[in-house]
Amino acid sequence: MTQKKKTAFITGITGQDGSYLARYLIEKNYNVHGLIRRSSSVNTDRINDILPKIELHFGDMTDSSSLTSIINKTNPDEIYNLAAQGNVGVSFGIPEYTADTDGLGCLRILECIKTLGLKEKTRFYQASTSEIFGNTLEKPQSETTPFDPKSPYAAAKLFAHNITKIYREAYGIHASNGILFNHESPARGEDFVTRKITKAVAAIKYNKQDVLELGNLDARRDWGHAKDYVRGIWLMLQQDNPDDYILATGLTESVRCFVEKSFKYINVSIEWEGKAEQERGIDAKTRKTLVRVCPKLYRPLEVHHLVGNASKAKSLLGWTPEFSLDMIIDEMMRHDLAAFE
Ligand code: NAP
Ligand code: GDD
Repeated sequence: MTQKKKTAFITGITGQDGSYLARYLIEKNYNVHGLIRRSSSVNTDRINDILPKIELHFGDMTDSSSLTSIINKTNPDEIYNLAAQGNVGVSFGIPEYTADTDGLGCLRILECIKTLGLKEKTRFYQASTSEIFGNTLEKPQSETTPFDPKSPYAAAKLFAHNITKIYREAYGIHASNGILFNHESPARGEDFVTRKITKAVAAIKYNKQDVLELGNLDARRDWGHAKDYVRGIWLMLQQDNPDDYILATGLTESVRCFVEKSFKYINVSIEWEGKAEQERGIDAKTRKTLVRVCPKLYRPLEVHHLVGNASKAKSLLGWTPEFSLDMIIDEMMRHDLAAFE
């Protein structure tokens, strides 16, 4: 007997994770629908090659009427809520919009599932985040670690995380939170630190940029690959029961180390001189300054050290990441250098 083709609705399909997840679901023979917001310039760069295989619907996370109408029309088996204003630093400048999109946006979708009578049919994934742990003292962070949000972004995401659990318990909706630690790829947005670094290193190699300016070099993150993480996301919705899971590599490195490894890819060895705002990264051979600290890039509050414990996902979902940090940097550097070749 052939299995009925499943239908998925992805918010944030034009973003890094949405573009990887859409490809993953197409390979699994899903009907894939995605939310797209109207933009004055093209915002489908990451999914142009799969446009004939998916259906896009105009809407916005801040607009309930569009979400209700799309969910009603597409009648999805699975909803993946990936849309968000995801830049932590930017969230300090646009806190209300961030709360609306990232916090209330999640509630709007859960309300659609409830009021459209889809609670028995539609499974829901919420893109939660390691940022909700903030500067908690527990290391590594697991599903039971206390939350300590340190930005409007993290506060909005914590609201979404909690409301997802509340709708699961109150109404029996199959709703799960994936508490994902940082994950990167060549499709990573250019305003996140990893992609900013690999793009700048490539531009410096081809004499298109002189210096890379960064904020806090000492922050530590647990960096994985988006491709590994969307596989984990999908697995969460295939379980009989909804639950919350951490996805992480269990390893942590500093921004400074990411810089050194990226320059190493182009055979440049970085030596650090000076302290705090005066610190500079220097080419060991030419003595030229290639990295400078710019205090304007510091955040009003910083999350210093994230590292996750993904034992639960490993034992219950059978999930393990395949990419190491060196593999991720190699792939991102190759991609960003190719733009100049
Ligand atoms: P991303 O590349 O920044 O993509 C964000 C997506 O959300 C884009 O498709 C964007 O559309 C869309 N979006 C933003 N505001 C919207 C609105 N008001 N209405 C409709 N769509 C809107 O983010 P990502 O890295 O793929 O992350 C996916 C999700 O996982 C996000 O919720 C993020 O907060 C969360 N997360 C990410 C990480 C990570 O390390 N990547 C870790 C933990 C959690 P445009 O293309 O039009 O801008
Ligand atoms: N973006 C950025 N730009 N960050 C910088 C810079 C810079 O020029 N210089 C230093 N950093 C530091 C930040 O202060 C932070 O400590 C660290 O680099 C990582 O910053 P981001 O790459 O912007 O990621 P993030 O950790 O704040 O947030 C990302 O991961 C979260 C999961 O932990 C985003 O993808 C969030 O959406 C996600 O939830």
